[in-house]
Parts: sequence; structure tokens; C-alpha cells
Amino acid sequence: MVLSLLRKRRSIRKYQPRPIEKEKIETLMEVLLRSPSSRSLNPWQFIFVSDPALLAKLGKSKKHGASFLKNAALAVVLCADPQQCDVWVEDCSVAATLLQLAAEEMGLGSCWVQIRLRRHDEAQSAEAFIKDLLQIPDHLAVASIVGLGYPNEVKTPHAAEKLQYEKIFSNIYGNR
Ligand SMILES: Cc1cc2nc3c(=O)[nH]c(=O)nc-3n(C[C@H](O)[C@H](O)[C@H](O)COP(=O)(O)O)c2cc1C
Repeated sequence: MVLSLLRKRRSIRKYQPRPIEKEKIETLMEVLLRSPSSRSLNPWQFIFVSDPALLAKLGKSKKHGASFLKNAALAVVLCADPQQCDVWVEDCSVAATLLQLAAEEMGLGSCWVQIRLRRHDEAQSAEAFIKDLLQIPDHLAVASIVGLGYPNEVKTPHAAEKLQYEKIFSNIYGNR
């Protein structure tokens, strides 16, 4: 099942104007909380944003690659406390990936928006902009946002022939 999802999965940035059912949202919450994390420290916290005005503002978090959030039914903001775990970035990345896969299985489309290390403008980081907007406490860092909704675009899966097998080695780097 996971394999077939992985084979057809694409980033979806166009969504139908249709809300996501409460049960599905609850399942997404469960998936996030079941994510493995280093030493099971679970340094993450997740903000589920469905308010259209906030979604529109999240779409302005950075100049490029976030605007599609304004039409998403839901945006999950992934934050973590770096003091709780030194590998919080990895922990958040695992959670975001599982969230996207679970969404795919439920017929939802999704796309990652990178926030960490990105700028809102010259004066402010994308993270600071989002922390202000959503009243996120100072001690938390924002890793990314995943936008979700029922797909309003169809994308062709990546072709098996185009996979970069040249990046895979056997035992020793360079060995095929
Ligand atoms: C770490 C990471 C950061 C990404 N950041 C963004 C982003 O800020 N905005 C965006 O539209 N897509 C973003 N994406 C989605 C990629 O652009 C997308 O996965 C890639 O182009 C491959 O397309 P596919 O997912 O359809 O296979 C990100 C993906 C990853 C894994």
C-alpha cells in the first residue's frame, strides 16, 4: 500500500474549495503524533490552520513557494523546541513526510513549504513572520508548513525510467 502511494505521489498545490472532514483531520493529527523521533523526545508541536484569513496570510510568509496556501483547506505548521532535541529538524521532517503520505492515502493532495532558513523579506525571516501571525511562543522554531486539500490538479507520477539509479552504490562509493 505504501509502495503504491509512493509510486504515484506528487506535490499538489491546487485544491478544490472543499473542507477536509473532521475525521480525516483527526487521523492526520494521530499520524503526526505517531511519528518516530530521536530518543522519543517528541520535540515537535503542530498548528492546524483552517481559518481562510490566516491561510491567506501564511501564503505571504515568503516571496516564492508559499502563495498556494491561500487556497488550501488546511495548513499544518510544524514547530519544535530545539532545546528539547538537537535533531529537531529531522524529527519535524519525518513528521511532515508521514503527514503527506497519510494525506495521499486519504485522497488529499499536499505540498511542503520550507520555512526554516527562508526570508519573509529583507527585514524579517519567514519564521518570525509566522510566529507573529500565529502567536507561537519564542522558544519554538518553525520548520515547515504542509498545505493540504482535495486535489484540483492531476499530475503524472515520476516515471520509473527517470529514477536516478546512478546515485546508488554498492558497498563502496562508486561501485555499481
Ligand atoms: C525540504 C523540502 C522543501 C520544499 N519546499 C517547498 C516550498 O517552499 N514550496 C513549494 O511549493 N514546494 C516545496 N517543496 C516541494 C518540492 O518542490 C517538490 O517535492 C519537488 O519539486 C518534487 O516534486 P514532487 O513532490 O511532485 O515529486 C519542498 C519539498 C521538500 C522536500
